[in-house]
Amino acid sequence: MIRVLCVCLGNICRSPMAEGVLAARAREAGVALEVDSAGTGSWHVGDAPDPRAIAAAAARGIDIAGQHARQVSMVDFERFDLILAMDEGNLASLERLRPVAARAALRLAHPDGQPVPDPYYGGDGGFERVLDMLEAMAESVLREGTGRR
Ligand code: 4NP
Repeated sequence: MIRVLCVCLGNICRSPMAEGVLAARAREAGVALEVDSAGTGSWHVGDAPDPRAIAAAAARGIDIAGQHARQVSMVDFERFDLILAMDEGNLASLERLRPVAARAALRLAHPDGQPVPDPYYGGDGGFERVLDMLEAMAESVLREGTGRR
């Protein structure tokens, strides 16, 4: 069992989609994986994902409508094996929060280290591009998690 936490800024766009994609692909692959998501910011705590994120994920057969935003906390570094930051800003925030004796590995979500662009204000290919990048993330995490390379 590998426990993965996906983190973005608001936990209403990128990381809820990341959680949904990773959970769906793990289920399909028969890989035992626990996945959650959180935001570095607190503005949207308790909110459902952005309607555009819900719609884009649903178009790929992934239901994220039942998720609720929460803020990342120090205990997450003990609870999870791997924490995936969507961009460098999220990674820097997580590095500041990380306890000295953190258990979780921390890195950028995309396997090539490309930032997953914030789709909240539009542009950059928006939610579709984010989902494509998250598919690559999921494939990479599942390959590592099962020892297949
Ligand atoms: P996310 O997108 O980090 O992908 O969830 C954002 C959502 C909301 C805000 C920023 C980014 N905001 O500033 O409210």
